[in-house]
Amino acid sequence: MNGLKFIKVNNPDEGSENLFNIIKEALEKNELHVLGLATGGTMIPVYKKWVESDLDFSGVTTFNLDEYVGISDDNPNGYAYFMNEHLFSKKKFKKVNTLNGLAENLEEECQRFEDLLLANPLDIQILGVGENGHIAFNEPGTPFDSVTHVAKLTQSTLEVNSRFFKPGEKVPNTAMTMGIKSILRAKKIVLLAFGEKKRAALTKLSEGKVDSEWPITKLLEHDNVTIITDLAI
Ligand code: GLP
Repeated sequence: MNGLKFIKVNNPDEGSENLFNIIKEALEKNELHVLGLATGGTMIPVYKKWVESDLDFSGVTTFNLDEYVGISDDNPNGYAYFMNEHLFSKKKFKKVNTLNGLAENLEEECQRFEDLLLANPLDIQILGVGENGHIAFNEPGTPFDSVTHVAKLTQSTLEVNSRFFKPGEKVPNTAMTMGIKSILRAKKIVLLAFGEKKRAALTKLSEGKVDSEWPITKLLEHDNVTIITDLAI
């Protein structure tokens, strides 16, 4: 039907181990030069494993999927901060690329990022998924041909992501994100989804029909996607 492969694991830790092995093998085969990274709670055990390992990323360039608008590198709610805390301050990379949430001209910042992506094709893109099926910050209804762009977040995403913010702190309602087309250009995509809250999105995917209200379903058109999940779908 498509290039989708499901790996069923017992828990997130086992899932992180699976992804670790995929990354390790790609590094050993010298097939991993450009790596797309994700943020979110799902990725915390993933990066912990990498940090505790002897994986050598010194020849690897990275691109992060997204960033909130109006949030600086030193703001703990930001994704650049998240990456520094969990990975970049602990492992050496050749070069890391993140979107600048404080850029004066957001359109220009998106273009700068997209140009860099085009010049450095992704070998592997790691993805999480939102409860509403969003990938990166491509919310339901985002055109499938979108490249890196400014995105308005849905109420549901604001509510779900508010758990990372302190009480009283407002979740930014705007972000910059790699587009669906930018993500699908990666040679290989590995998506991690753990827990019941991700069931609706994975169920849509397994139904096998591309639906713009469920951005995750566009992965059905890619020829090399691995889904690592603890859900029996
Ligand atoms: C955010 C990010 C996504 C991520 C999603 C799921 O909205 N923009 O890239 O996949 O959260 O996060 P979590 O892993 O915390 O469930």
